[in-house]
Amino acid sequence: MFICNVVGARPNFMKIAPVVLETQRRGIRQLLVHTGQHYDRQMSAVFFEELGMPAPDIHMGIGSGSHAEQTARIMISFEKICAENAFDLVVVGGDVNSTAACSLVAAKMGIPVAHVEAGLRSFDRTMPEEINRIVTDHLSELLFTTEESANENLRREGIAEERIRFVGNCMIDTLRTHVEAALSRSPWEEYGIEPNQYVLLTLHRPSNVDDAIKLHLLMDIMHEVSLRMPVVFPAHPRTLDRIRQGNIQVPPSVRVCEPMPYLTFLGLLAKAKCVLTDSGGIQEETTALNIPCLTLRENTERPVTLTRGTNRLVGTDVRKINAGIDEIMAGKWPNARQPLLWDGKAAHRIVDAVEAWAAPLNLR
Ligand code: UD1
Repeated sequence: MFICNVVGARPNFMKIAPVVLETQRRGIRQLLVHTGQHYDRQMSAVFFEELGMPAPDIHMGIGSGSHAEQTARIMISFEKICAENAFDLVVVGGDVNSTAACSLVAAKMGIPVAHVEAGLRSFDRTMPEEINRIVTDHLSELLFTTEESANENLRREGIAEERIRFVGNCMIDTLRTHVEAALSRSPWEEYGIEPNQYVLLTLHRPSNVDDAIKLHLLMDIMHEVSLRMPVVFPAHPRTLDRIRQGNIQVPPSVRVCEPMPYLTFLGLLAKAKCVLTDSGGIQEETTALNIPCLTLRENTERPVTLTRGTNRLVGTDVRKINAGIDEIMAGKWPNARQPLLWDGKAAHRIVDAVEAWAAPLNLR
């Protein structure tokens, strides 16, 4: 059996790393392909080093562009890679443009696709990620899901039951592997803050940062929050660009900084008083760590973080944000009950499932 593992953007690395490492451990032949959708050292290379992942065998170096440009460039490049290698399976993760682009190429070349983190739905097609999720799922032969809602979504969309494998959450495998090492580095010291006494903020969704008025409003809200507790804000390059272009004032009390390496961010996440974010993955990581999370969005594709976890949707409603922070500071935030199968063994189950799928095909 010959597997191609694909990564492209920051959130892919922590999802695919445990699959790559487990595949390697079992001696299965694999090729690791990086599309280069994310290319800054802080958005890419540093994750390979910290997660102990082998360097990519092939780096496409695609870089940024409009959705169509980026997707098309990845497709042209990946088609050549697939033509030169007799892959039996292409493994993609998450919902970024690289995920959808490579799935489309593989499916059209008759190569089965496995999707890690399948079935999530925000039911909001204005999000590019929602389009990527739908396309990828409907092209995939094996759909590895992280929560029960994903299984239901896929069934509702007519995906055959035998293609769905509820395996748990690979990103949480990575978190559980590294959290102790992350904490032992005491990353808060570098920012002059105390454990459990700061807010960690991330913002990068186009719906929040591409609109200057919205970004202004969010910065005003963060100013208010920072009067109550220090706010640390590792900003995505897209967000930093928008701040510069829009001449947006980040309140001086908000500590804005470059994107952080995985272990620095994980250490800060694990000791935050609360997290404000519009990220998908961070909603899950805060649930795994039992840290209160206020999500600056109107919807989530990860409802288990609301029903079992520590997450609450607050949009950009200042009253809801302040009310949430009041409850958190008063110690009234509910504790998380760990979602099913977020136990650090998802990648093990994925590679088991791949081997079981391959056995009757005589690929071993
Ligand atoms: C992408 C994903 C999003 C994911 C996010 C995590 C899509 C559609 N979106 O969004 O789901 O949550 O990654 O970060 O795939 N840039 C750099 N350096 C980099 C990468 C990006 O400066 O290494 C800048 C570029 O100006 C680029 C912009 O960020 O135009 C946006 O990058 P892009 O890959 O298009 O989307 P993200 O916003 O990162």
